[in-house]
Amino acid sequence: MDYSKFFNTELEKLKKEGLYRNFREIDRPIKKFPKADEIQGEEERDVEVWCSNDYLNMSQHPEVVNETVKTLLEIGSGSGGTRNISGTSSYHTALERKLAAVHNKENALIFASAYTANQSTLWTLGKKIKNLEIFSDELNHASLIQGIKNSSANCHIFQHNDVDHLEQLLRNTDQDHPKLIVFESLYSMEGIRSPILKIVELAKKYNAMTYLDEVHSVGLYGDKGKGIAVEMKVDQKIDIINGTLAKAYGQMGGYIAANNEIIDYIRSFAPGFIFTTSICPSIAAGASKAIDIVSLADQLRIKIHENASTIRQLLESIAIPYIDTNSHIISVLINDPFLCKKVSEKLIDDHGIYAQPIFYPTVPKGLERLRITVTPKHRKDHIEKMIKSLDKVWSDLSLPRKNSTKIYIKN
Ligand SMILES: Cc1ncc(COP(=O)(O)O)c(C=O)c1O
Repeated sequence: MDYSKFFNTELEKLKKEGLYRNFREIDRPIKKFPKADEIQGEEERDVEVWCSNDYLNMSQHPEVVNETVKTLLEIGSGSGGTRNISGTSSYHTALERKLAAVHNKENALIFASAYTANQSTLWTLGKKIKNLEIFSDELNHASLIQGIKNSSANCHIFQHNDVDHLEQLLRNTDQDHPKLIVFESLYSMEGIRSPILKIVELAKKYNAMTYLDEVHSVGLYGDKGKGIAVEMKVDQKIDIINGTLAKAYGQMGGYIAANNEIIDYIRSFAPGFIFTTSICPSIAAGASKAIDIVSLADQLRIKIHENASTIRQLLESIAIPYIDTNSHIISVLINDPFLCKKVSEKLIDDHGIYAQPIFYPTVPKGLERLRITVTPKHRKDHIEKMIKSLDKVWSDLSLPRKNSTKIYIKN
């Protein structure tokens, strides 16, 4: 086999479809945010960040940074091994206790990322529970899909947020088989919530377990930022909650929270937990501090939602198509990979506005978009500049305004 030809042909194909990814180098000095430095070789220039998942700026919060540095200086940088072999510190266990409390669960388990937590937990359940039937929302995150697929468990994909379809699939499945419904509380690329109450009802009716990805809602919704399951008072009806330390908490790492026996089971059987080095103690310490701060940060939560609402109003005023939700995520629809890239490039090159294009496989083909994320640190003048820039780019590229393009909203 000509390996080199294979790789190059595949990459060329990707480029022709407009699906090749280009990374921009963005350094975010603490003092400047939401302004940041774009590095281009020897050159450096100011840009404004409009696509960060560090939703509440916890990665730069002075107390979080101090806690991280303090622990780093005391303990050193690495954790020393897997959790089983010298990689469990008091920082890890304290963080797990804190995460369990966030979700009103008995216990929690940290992974290297939420991706690994999803993939490895679902793989383990799908592989080990005989005849497990998994029901998965069609827009579930890649990490959920990978875990389910790799497990080779029988998987039924229900249409996005369509509880009638879910029930139809549940009804038509062997009632004696164990079942697991896998979904997200807030879909990250739409900002649309799932019908969590109804799904939980169906789970009870058909005796299914529930697995909920709360990656984009933890820190931002519910009392003390405990997430949407707590906000909707169904946390006790969800068997496993997945979350990340990397978005509203601004660090890195992921976790699941559940009852003692599920956590003990996953801890004992999930390869993605067992066979990898644990997160650095300094990161665990920083994450614990971020959780404390976020739990008291109602003002930050109010501000991010106010900012998102202002952006939606301004987008409305210039008739730019977006998915209308009341979440903190704003998806501006372009529905073409080449144009999507073009908009993103013109925004940063002509206006210093950094918003990466989102295309397949992150979203389905034909539903390309800019996913705009705002933080409490974005001021009114930042928002107005971003909107003005987007308006100009939209006109420069003669893109269709609202009501003249297909808008993908299912609920
Ligand atoms: C819905 C969802 N789940 C899981 C993840 C993985 O999170 P992490 O970055 O911690 O691996 C992401 C990442 O963006 C996500 O959007």
